[in-house]
Amino acid sequence: MEAKPATGTQSRTERSDFRATADPALNEAADRTSEVKLLTYAELYDLWERQQWQTQELDFSRDREDWHQRISPEERFQRMYGLSSFFIGEQKVAEELGPIMRAAPTEDQKIFLCTQIADEARHVRFFERFYREVGVLESDRLSEMLAETSAHLNEKFGALFDGMLKERTDRLSAEPEDAEALVEAVTLYHMVIEGMLALTGQHFIMDFNEREGTLPGFVEGFSNVARDEHRHVAFGSVFLREKAREDDRYKQAIQRTLEQALPLADGVLQPPWAENAGEDFELFGYSLEETRQFAGTCLMRRLKVIGLG
Ligand SMILES: [Fe+2]
Ligand SMILES: [Fe+2]
Repeated sequence: MEAKPATGTQSRTERSDFRATADPALNEAADRTSEVKLLTYAELYDLWERQQWQTQELDFSRDREDWHQRISPEERFQRMYGLSSFFIGEQKVAEELGPIMRAAPTEDQKIFLCTQIADEARHVRFFERFYREVGVLESDRLSEMLAETSAHLNEKFGALFDGMLKERTDRLSAEPEDAEALVEAVTLYHMVIEGMLALTGQHFIMDFNEREGTLPGFVEGFSNVARDEHRHVAFGSVFLREKAREDDRYKQAIQRTLEQALPLADGVLQPPWAENAGEDFELFGYSLEETRQFAGTCLMRRLKVIGLG
């Protein structure tokens, strides 16, 4: 299949409810200037109240038919890498956010991070419902589903979540006043994991399903997940911008964390089944290079706004 321009991706990044988050990645002005307006923590909270949704309202009946009747076993297997990374990723970020919330220095920041913990819990339930109602796996209980689906992940995924992220949240649990560790954790969590990996995966997976006309219930719910992620990344951007302006050592902490995390994040973009293909494989109809480009542009805009570009 020849790679096509990400037209769906573009129309989605222009959605007004996504842009309402003021995530710098969705603002072309961030290519030129760092002086773009970001929402305050209180404004992000108000936006959260206006952007609620329910996993219970989604209808997965067409998705079930598509999964078993329209999608071939080989394609189902290839799709399991993306689905599993998200399902497990959501569960891990939901559980690692507590120490970050507790370490946040202001009440407004803590209150926003509490809403984010609720969002991440909803994202786990979204995947759980999709898996169960579509019949993706044999397992029916959440813990068993997570164990079964983890077989599809690659090694870099573990190094990023169970290594780098957990090290920092463990540090914050022990020393909540370690502001440098907090800056490192937010860089890793909001900029790399949510900003680069999750949002890139989401835009390409939704685009692919829309072009193929598959999994409409999943696409509807996943769009809501993506909107939540833009809001979370908007929090990370305003927080890191404040810190970078406050002290040069925080700027260095952001840079140091990115240098360590980016090679791992790049590895997470490559599914284990494509390992022998080198760089020459397509994921959801796009080359690895196109996926990297999308992730890279988003990161550059956010870094510019933070004051590092
Ligand atoms: Fe999430
Ligand atoms: Fe998130």
